[in-house]
Amino acid sequence: IEVDEFDLVVFGASGDLAQRKLLPALYHRDADGQMPGSGRIICSARRDYSDDDYRAFAKSALQEHVKDLDDVHLQQFLDRIRYVKIDIATGDGFEGLKEVLDEQPDVIRAFYLAVGPDLFGTICENLGRIGVVNDHARVVMEKPIGKDGASAKALNDTVGAVFHEDQIFRIDHYLGKETVQNLMALRFANALFEPLWNAAHIDHVQITVAESLGTGGRAGYYDTAGALRDMVQNHILQLLCLVAMEPPESMNADSVRDEKLKVLKALAPINEQNSDKLTVRGQYRAGASAGGAVPGYLEELGNDQSRTETFVALKAEIANWRWAGVPFYLRTGKRLARRVSEIVVQFRPIPHSIFDVEAGRITANRLIIRLQPDEGVQMQVMIKDPGPGGMRLRQVPLDMSFAEAFKVRNPDAYERLIMDVIRGNQTLFMRRDEVDAAWAWIDPIQAAWANSKETPKGYTAGTWGPSAAIALVERDGRTWAEEDSD
Ligand code: BG6
Repeated sequence: IEVDEFDLVVFGASGDLAQRKLLPALYHRDADGQMPGSGRIICSARRDYSDDDYRAFAKSALQEHVKDLDDVHLQQFLDRIRYVKIDIATGDGFEGLKEVLDEQPDVIRAFYLAVGPDLFGTICENLGRIGVVNDHARVVMEKPIGKDGASAKALNDTVGAVFHEDQIFRIDHYLGKETVQNLMALRFANALFEPLWNAAHIDHVQITVAESLGTGGRAGYYDTAGALRDMVQNHILQLLCLVAMEPPESMNADSVRDEKLKVLKALAPINEQNSDKLTVRGQYRAGASAGGAVPGYLEELGNDQSRTETFVALKAEIANWRWAGVPFYLRTGKRLARRVSEIVVQFRPIPHSIFDVEAGRITANRLIIRLQPDEGVQMQVMIKDPGPGGMRLRQVPLDMSFAEAFKVRNPDAYERLIMDVIRGNQTLFMRRDEVDAAWAWIDPIQAAWANSKETPKGYTAGTWGPSAAIALVERDGRTWAEEDSD
């Protein structure tokens, strides 16, 4: 569906996010016919570019990041682009932006802050100063939204002084991933799962976001964050919310966000008293990845004192009626054995077996929602082995691979999210109180670690993290899903 007429202003248009994600996402949606003729993309950075210089820059970014680029669509897309030179720190150039925006005063205006959070405040103040924040305006913020509750509050206050909460779109790109939205379809568009979706039938839940890459060129930022702030505070807690929330009244933004907020508030605290038992921190050492030798985190960083974690495993509990007593094992890390993100819902064992032992072991059902790669949903069930030989039982996957089921391109998360900004749909964006509640749970963990004499446990790059993470789950008589299948 085509969206309303709009101007999308991208701050940080020469940066990595713009090149890798935003321009390709916009190109695809344009090529799919979803943009009105007058939709403009107004790119801004410090470089002294003309419109055509920036179009050439955008073209080479698209050539690098888009497969099957089509010349006709490419030209149509490049024609939408304007460039405005702005020096955010000095405020120079904002008037030029106003002139361009004034050419279409009545269309939707979205300001995308694809810059570091230290610049959010200055940009918003300048937008307020030049008078371009009208009723049709909205702003998109990228993470990190603060590094703790207090800094998040300061940041949200600054942006909130210029934009109303219903104009602020806090992106968590995990919410734009196709399979993540499928979690809601799976739970609330099927009668099958919801009656079983509680502590009476579910033994535990695992959420893994494993990456094989290291910190890449972002070691400077990453070292100030670590895996807990970089991944758990946002992406993993959002996934946990979608798994655990009560059915919202509707897909309306506030209905969904109200239910997610309740989950965040119900998370049992982890702090100095219990963090030793419930958390594991790791840091990768030299090892092998994708067949080649790779250095350790400290070598990459060039600082052998850093205690920043590149891996974290947590045992979380949601203290409410639906989930009491059901552990949510969460883990994420850099330089792990392979790139895989999945949610595993482990059901309880059957209450009684009518089969004799020779029939084989009966494994409890497991629902696996694979976010990436190879997006899909798999339900592991027991069946009788076909053929003669009597009743022999076997676990098999009922498998739904997206690539096989739908022969369409799997859109990147940013495509959906940017179009939602223009449509004004906040369902897949974080409300301010969600961010605060997430920090309220994360801050005491961070504080417990800061006060602990222990340092993160080393793990060899290319493995599944420190052995303590395996012990965290095995202590409870359980295993991580990967260890079962490797
Ligand atoms: C980002 C983190 O938010 O998500 C990165 O800052 C991480 O450290 C990335 O690599 C992972 O995203 P994806 O979509 O590749 O799983």
